[in-house]
Amino acid sequence: MRPGGDTPDDAVPPAADLRSPRPGVETITWKGRLGPMGLGVSSRTFRPTTITHVLAQAMEVRRGDVVIDVGCGSGILGIIAAKLGASRVYGTDVSPDVVDVASGNAARHGVAHCTTFFQGDLFSALPSDVRADLIVGDVSGVPDELAADSGWFPSRTGGGRRGCELPIRMIREAGRRLAPAGRMLLPTATLQDEPPILDAARAAFASVVKVAQRAIPLPSAIAEADSLKRLAQEGVIHLGTRGSRLIWDARVWRCDAAPGSGTA
Ligand SMILES: C[S@@+](CC[C@H](N)C(=O)[O-])C[C@H]1O[C@@H](n2cnc3c(N)ncnc32)[C@H](O)[C@@H]1O
Repeated sequence: MRPGGDTPDDAVPPAADLRSPRPGVETITWKGRLGPMGLGVSSRTFRPTTITHVLAQAMEVRRGDVVIDVGCGSGILGIIAAKLGASRVYGTDVSPDVVDVASGNAARHGVAHCTTFFQGDLFSALPSDVRADLIVGDVSGVPDELAADSGWFPSRTGGGRRGCELPIRMIREAGRRLAPAGRMLLPTATLQDEPPILDAARAAFASVVKVAQRAIPLPSAIAEADSLKRLAQEGVIHLGTRGSRLIWDARVWRCDAAPGSGTA
């Protein structure tokens, strides 16, 4: 998936990381796992949110793993994977300047030698022989209309009409990109049509286990969006309440291929 909607990290670089960013690229501070780290982001870069933090915590990287970070944004999750011992990290994103932005961040954090970023749809830009031990499958996954109304996605991409179409396509394509006994980390949320995504994951993987869950308040400006109300009435998205606030649930799933095989 997944939406932003929670507070992005602050725009203050740590003192040890004051490399001047390129024009049009500002520096924010990643305060999650292995942070603080300065990260360059442009106006087209998705800024890390609570779910990025949850995914970073959930990532189990073994020394020597090959990792694919799909929907890599600033490259932060791939950079963390490299720092945790991955031998090779490939990141992809549709954002037009992802190669420049994410590669700059990898260089800044000393992992340029083992990271490569590509611009393109899902796995399509990767060399055909790349197979991963771990796929971090974090592509956009809120309904297109909500993505547009919320402004959460600087690359202006949603996950399809119901927010499940793109994640399902990613799950189906992931099989060809997994090494034997590979695994995928998959975020889902109640701000998308979640059940068909989990059905697709259960059909493609030998096991699908929830490893994290968070309830996240919806910003009040978005709570008023017509698309949000309509999608809730249609039963596409599901919101709860905490006091006067609307909340949505985010979950992270560990999807394991059968031992000795990829998923397909
Ligand atoms: C929720 S953001 C996650 C970014 C990053 N992983 C993070 O946590 O900061 C989803 C990312 O998926 C990208 N994206 C959307 N559609 C895509 C596609 N078809 N193929 C690859 N990336 C895509 C968006 O540009 C966005 O950067």
